[in-house]
Amino acid sequence: MGYVGLPLACEFARTGIQVVGIDVDQAKIEGIQRGRSHVQDVPDAQLRALVESQALRATRDFSSLADCDAVVICVPTPLRKTRDPDISYIVSAVDEIARFLHRGMLVVLESTTYPGTTEEVILPKLQSTGLRVGQDFFLAFSPERVDPSNPRFNTRNTPKILGGVTSDCARVAQALYEQAIETVIPVSSTRTAEMVKLLENTFRSVNIGLVNEVALMCDRLGLDVWEVIDAAATKPFGFMRFYPGPGLGGHCIPIDPHYLSWKLKSLNYTARFIELASEINGQMPHYVVSKVVDALNEQGKSVRGARLLVLGVAYKKDVGDVRESPALDVLKLLADRGADIRYSDPYAPEIAIDGGLRYRSVPLEREELERADLAIIITDHSVFDYAFIVSHSRCVLDTRNATRAVRAGRDKVVRL
Ligand SMILES: NC(=O)c1ccc[n+]([C@@H]2O[C@H](COP(=O)([O-])OP(=O)(O)OC[C@H]3O[C@@H](n4cnc5c(N)ncnc54)[C@H](O)[C@@H]3O)[C@@H](O)[C@H]2O)c1
Repeated sequence: MGYVGLPLACEFARTGIQVVGIDVDQAKIEGIQRGRSHVQDVPDAQLRALVESQALRATRDFSSLADCDAVVICVPTPLRKTRDPDISYIVSAVDEIARFLHRGMLVVLESTTYPGTTEEVILPKLQSTGLRVGQDFFLAFSPERVDPSNPRFNTRNTPKILGGVTSDCARVAQALYEQAIETVIPVSSTRTAEMVKLLENTFRSVNIGLVNEVALMCDRLGLDVWEVIDAAATKPFGFMRFYPGPGLGGHCIPIDPHYLSWKLKSLNYTARFIELASEINGQMPHYVVSKVVDALNEQGKSVRGARLLVLGVAYKKDVGDVRESPALDVLKLLADRGADIRYSDPYAPEIAIDGGLRYRSVPLEREELERADLAIIITDHSVFDYAFIVSHSRCVLDTRNATRAVRAGRDKVVRL
């Protein structure tokens, strides 16, 4: 019932399918039962209506699976400290499902994972019950593509890829998804479907890595990378616009490609683009810090003791999710250097960074800007008034080109 599971559950519930949302997090269960959404894209009113009409209910009790015709797994797939895949959440969810697996049941994995997970990890566990796939129960993989806070594409109108262990598995899964999703695209196998998702996210990671390196090159060349990108994007074919920034964030792009490179390592193959993109993207917070050092140096100041105001800490604009956000790395690097840091983010009221430091968001007021030696724009939320920020700041480091439309005070703005 997280960022993926809750919107999907609501989408199914809206079609008239009776949905049970199972989660191990009691707080989320209680919130849902009270009609309080913890996911920005699911409004409270919509959730409340579904819960009140009993189309959706949430529980911690896995025995509800005994009455379900289909189960969709949307648990986390993070990395371990060693950057190896951590599929323990999938394993523990599947162990529970196996206890209640019954004839005719459809099981679909949506969590992003390496090619082979569905057939190598899930299938043996489910078949150990004595039931046969494609005959007694059905198993498929369908990657989640949701883009939180995207105003145009949501769960319903984002085309859905789907691969079954057998062709009947694919047909059964397609029959379910077509109730709630406008376009369902079957592929030949679960491995193909798993790989599709990893291609999509590796594509983003590599292209962001490329454009971040172009930003580093433009810096050396004394060129404006934003102007270069905008001009290149006038080409009507063969070019796709990506932007540089303070680094990669979110639960997907910095993590998913490592699932692929890990799997390839076991096949004695090095996924070079993935490793290189990860290296460049991972260095961007350090580059931001070098820009902070330079900007303070211009004022005759050191990082130690400088008062810094970080604007936006979420991993991308207009969301409150700070998972893997590069802002956390930037804050940690600056805190380690003795900076006096505050941050403002209307979507993320409180954050904790590695090492145990906690911060609370401050309101973005004139006095806060005036007292800072440097304002650092990390996340370009639409609600920020960039003219106001530039006009009341001593100096602004803009890592997103968020101040591009601001004319007055441009000389105070340093861009990536
Ligand atoms: N967030 C996104 O934008 C996004 C987009 C596409 C794909 N994905 C993928 O979808 C998957 C889920 O991501 P998310 O962002 O929704 O994660 P999340 O952390 O928001 O939600 C996962 C939920 O699973 C619950 N959970 C953990 N173990 C469980 C178990 N054994 N049984 C039942 N519930 C359990 C957690 O309590 C949590 O509520 C991941 O594989 C992710 O990579 C996420």
